[in-house]
Amino acid sequence: MASRGAFQLNVLLILAFAATAFSALSPYYYEQVCPEALPTIKRVVEAAVYNERRMGASLLRLHFHDCFVNGCDASLLLDSTSTIDSEKNSRANQNSARGFEVIDQIKIEVDKMCGRPVFSCADILAVAARDSVVALGGPSWMVPLGRRDSTTASRTQADSDIPSPFMDLPALIENFKRQGLDERDLVALSGGHTLGFAQCFTFRDRIYNETNIDDDFAEERRKTCPRTDGNTTLAPLDSSPARFDTAYFNNLVEEEGLLHSDQALFNGGSTDELVKAYSENARAFSADFAKSMVKMGNIKVLTGEAGQIRLNCRKVIN
Ligand SMILES: *[C@@H]1O[C@H](CO)[C@@H](O)[C@H](O)[C@H]1NC(C)=O
Ligand SMILES: *[C@@H]1O[C@H](CO)[C@@H](O)[C@H](O)[C@H]1NC(C)=O
Repeated sequence: MASRGAFQLNVLLILAFAATAFSALSPYYYEQVCPEALPTIKRVVEAAVYNERRMGASLLRLHFHDCFVNGCDASLLLDSTSTIDSEKNSRANQNSARGFEVIDQIKIEVDKMCGRPVFSCADILAVAARDSVVALGGPSWMVPLGRRDSTTASRTQADSDIPSPFMDLPALIENFKRQGLDERDLVALSGGHTLGFAQCFTFRDRIYNETNIDDDFAEERRKTCPRTDGNTTLAPLDSSPARFDTAYFNNLVEEEGLLHSDQALFNGGSTDELVKAYSENARAFSADFAKSMVKMGNIKVLTGEAGQIRLNCRKVIN
């Protein structure tokens, strides 16, 4: 018995070590220094999402577009200066990334609550993404924290690393692989499109030219997305854009994916089975989504003495 107990203890220690070896982050990072920080973020996010439900998708997308460009370091939040080529002006973000005022408001309120600027902008993005999902009926998870903020940004990196809505499955798989994310992460995280809207120019080709699309669905979408003009007109990414559910996957199975890159996940390829599985099992989707969000949130994080804790999320402290 004693040796079995010792064995179990060893296993626990190894697991605990493995968890810290792969991530310097901890969900309890701010617990001593500012226990009221997380409830403060939740309060601001809830207010913003109840004011405009689309904001949930926007905040979730900010975290994604931050992490895919040189890691989760809040580089996306930096405005242009003589030395910063803002990622806000990249193809994927220009005239579409939004929610920056909500992040600013969170930063002000959290710093006030903490009495000093201890909470990083990169961590605010990670927590705001989780709280947005929760506010719209999705799963909750512990967000590992302790990221620090970058002192640089890269528009060119954003242009090359953020996946485009026109990608096929092999390109999507390759794009995620470069971030250390596998096919399961790709499908689970694409499920974030259970929330939010896309602009007409991102799906025009799909609704006019593609064949793996339901006729009635294409016809409906063409009504608000003409062949010319109307580039910025919005359409929902799934049939319930303000509810975190499995409609996105059900839509894909029905060939009612809005973006080319959405339908690519269910088009006779290696991810079909998982799309089908998620469409039939909300719990499996929620569990995998949470797991992949944590994995994405770990991409190339700055910790220890690296980077800085910004005062204003839009500006580097010099
Ligand atoms: C569809 O395909 C045709 C022929 O390749 C092309 O001319 C057109 O620009 C494409 N897009 C739309 C929205 O029709
Ligand atoms: C609309 O989008 C298309 C495709 O991105 C682009 O070629 C065109 O110039 C845009 N039109 C306007 C008026 O911005």
